[in-house]
Amino acid sequence: MKKTDAIGIFDSGLGGISMLCTLSSYLPNEKYLYYGDCANAPYGTKSREEIKERCFAICEELIQRGVKAIVIACNTATSACVKELRKAYPQLSIIGMEPALKPAVIHKKNQNVLVLATAFTLREKKFSDLMSLYEHEHRIYRQPCPKLVELMESGDFHDPQKVDDALFEYLTPYQDCNIHSIVLGCTHFVFFKKRIQELCGNHVEVIDGNMGTARQVKHLL
Ligand code: DGL
Repeated sequence: MKKTDAIGIFDSGLGGISMLCTLSSYLPNEKYLYYGDCANAPYGTKSREEIKERCFAICEELIQRGVKAIVIACNTATSACVKELRKAYPQLSIIGMEPALKPAVIHKKNQNVLVLATAFTLREKKFSDLMSLYEHEHRIYRQPCPKLVELMESGDFHDPQKVDDALFEYLTPYQDCNIHSIVLGCTHFVFFKKRIQELCGNHVEVIDGNMGTARQVKHLL
């Protein structure tokens, strides 16, 4: 493994490109090798075994191509198998992602936080454990948003009406909940961040985990 080797980065499809953008502007001198598993997207509705199988196949491919680290630019894949991947490839730094709940609540009191993620991420123990750190003091709502993944993968994200229809469906139920912040717990959703911010207004903080993950990558390298 050489310092000049690429950093491998993967996702179920196009979502991880949002992470790649953040990472390549934060660490512009690194080389990157991106694997978008579009043929098998979405992961969010798959079983743990199916997701795990894909993640191992992708990591094998990236390792064969000589990467020095792997970024799992997918909250769903991270929930499914980050521990197993780290155990299988101890020679590599493997950086995962999880919904950025901590930045939404840290140094604040009684926050109402809406977490948007895949159904898989939201029902996993990893996320319940994360929630249990904060829910004694804060109200945390969970909303799966499969249509946002579909919009990205089908190319329909260019259609403002379809995007708004999906966003209204997912956000309207919380309009009377006095939401302070929205956590984008899926890398696909980062592409809709601007529109979510416009719809919710500037008093709602819209948070993603991309920058935190980029810092973590720098730290580990
Ligand atoms: N982009 C992925 C995530 O961060 C998953 C989307 C999907 O394939 O369902 O969770």
